[in-house]
Amino acid sequence: MPRKVSYGLDYDEDYGYDYEEVDDYRLDYDADDSGDVPIAREEPSRSTSNVWRCSICTYDNEEGLPACDICGVIRKTHIDVNNAKKTASASLKKDLPTERISTTSEENSNVVTSRGRHVNVIKSEHGSQLDIHASGSREVALEHGTSADEYKHQVLTSSSNSFSDESTNSAQKASSLKPYSHETWMLPEKGESVLTQLNIAIVGHVDSGKSTLSGRLLHLSGRISQKEMHKYEKEAKLQGKGSFAFAWALDESAEERERGITMTVAVAYFDTKKYHVVLLDSPGHKDFVPNMISGAIQADAAVLVIDASVGSFEAGMDGNKGQTREHAQLIRSFGIEQLIVAVNKMDAIEYSKERYELIKRQLGTFLRTSGFKDTSVQWVPMSAITNQNLDANPDDIRFSSWYKGPYLLKAIDSLPPPLRDFSRPLVMPVSDVIRSPSTGQISACGKLESGAMRAGLKVLVMPSGHLGTVKSMEHDSRPCTVARAGDHVAVVLQGVDGSRIIKGGVLCHPDFPISVAKHFELKVLTLEGASPILIGSQVELHIHHAMEAACVKKIISVLDPKTGEEMKKSPRILTPRQRAVIEVVLQGPVCAGEYSNCKALGRVSLRASGRTAAVGFVTRVIED
Ligand code: GTP
Ligand code: MG
Repeated sequence: MPRKVSYGLDYDEDYGYDYEEVDDYRLDYDADDSGDVPIAREEPSRSTSNVWRCSICTYDNEEGLPACDICGVIRKTHIDVNNAKKTASASLKKDLPTERISTTSEENSNVVTSRGRHVNVIKSEHGSQLDIHASGSREVALEHGTSADEYKHQVLTSSSNSFSDESTNSAQKASSLKPYSHETWMLPEKGESVLTQLNIAIVGHVDSGKSTLSGRLLHLSGRISQKEMHKYEKEAKLQGKGSFAFAWALDESAEERERGITMTVAVAYFDTKKYHVVLLDSPGHKDFVPNMISGAIQADAAVLVIDASVGSFEAGMDGNKGQTREHAQLIRSFGIEQLIVAVNKMDAIEYSKERYELIKRQLGTFLRTSGFKDTSVQWVPMSAITNQNLDANPDDIRFSSWYKGPYLLKAIDSLPPPLRDFSRPLVMPVSDVIRSPSTGQISACGKLESGAMRAGLKVLVMPSGHLGTVKSMEHDSRPCTVARAGDHVAVVLQGVDGSRIIKGGVLCHPDFPISVAKHFELKVLTLEGASPILIGSQVELHIHHAMEAACVKKIISVLDPKTGEEMKKSPRILTPRQRAVIEVVLQGPVCAGEYSNCKALGRVSLRASGRTAAVGFVTRVIED
């Protein structure tokens, strides 16, 4: 009889709730790729005269026309325009009086700042963007226009205004007028020879060598030229930080370089034989865990970097101060199952097999109890600084004499391809807002969690509810025509004020607006070493790229760790390593959804006193 291994806290299974099976989203939005002629759904019209609006090009056609005069799309059925208008408004919940708040360019430049780019590396502007989110999500705007486009914009905006105005206690529910059906261009073309995109988060304790490893990988793959590398080496030496030369490719800011630590997530790109890798180099310092969350939440897989040096591995594993544990638990709660443990700085321990085995044993036990399956974890000892076991087998005899496993790039190529949601409506959480230093254009950056985008497509900017049109897109600093689920892009929108695009916001399909709310029921797991959670506890709630202050309103029940069933009702306190159902009320609204509908918008982590207290997901968006 095989010995059963307890995988402890498996966030998908141990809660006694199989999300794959109750994936309502899939049922709601039955995909159809029939390629049939698109049928125009009538849109509400600005005028009360006898016209019907084409949903494709939004042109107001004469009542008698069977097809759109402009684009030829067939009119489906007759709907009274006044009723249609009510329906559209109702679907977005409320229709409150309109108001105008002018936004000066000065105001814009205060809230959206730019950041220089560097050899395919985009740095996040986390500190200021969190402020943008906090204020932006409560801002209101409505442009009074006369064009057909602007009418639709008004309908959407007024609903959102009502939300913003009454945001203290209302939840704006996602709703739609028709079932979603994707178009052919939204699916990857058959026989397309492009490499599959794989988003990899580089995480781990401070100073374990994450940025050095990232810089080295960019250099090995030719993304950083020899000339640029010489420049980094020279500059780093001049500042007395010679050992940080590779890290400087990722740590761009003067403060990061001076302190020798990463503060914000850097996004960089390189190709392996099998994948086009989007590398998310996270900060390891405990003060910047919120930034790490915002970056790593987009990942399909992770590389957990461990410093093998004596004392350093132990510091990372420290229950109170070590980020190895916290990062591992966080990435598992983000749904990341595939993990490569890069045991770095092997040169510092003379490539000792014994030390490597000890690390593997101790950390392996912890990873198992954190919900990682042995079969999904690969172990790769290496040295980023001496380039051992990164893109080829080690050539140092002290290392090659005992290590016969894969080198890092081989381990990356052996990761299974990620699953993508091409057939669901567009959802793109905004991870960053950047202003181009040359053109002044504002781009919303993020990973498409589902659906697709191309130039000319109308998208709804949440939480403000403004309607914009995709003007252009960039992927890996190059223009691209189509972006699909899984792609990491920077999108320029037209028809929407830049200040309405905020970090923590979401770009979505106009007919399938996502929920915006401030009251949630959550299923959580409290983490080891964190302070207990009480009714009234003040926490920071992180959900995709949004962060908001929250208060624990109720502790509904504690769940049995094995069965997921209710064990105790209304306890007064939650201690570490407990599963529970709680209710939280946020200070301001955030874009969010039930995990069973959209995983990307339903994963949460709660932080208090500078550390992660609990991880979990949204089980209910509560309307007060
Ligand atoms: P944070 O982002 O601040 O958490 O740090 P990090 O994990 O990105 O570490 P970083 O790459 O900045 O490297 C920290 C120090 O470790 C630097 O002095 C590097 O030279 C050193 N380092 C990185 N990799 C190795 C390695 O393989 N061997 C040795 N001996 N030192 C290394
Ligand atoms: Mg770093």
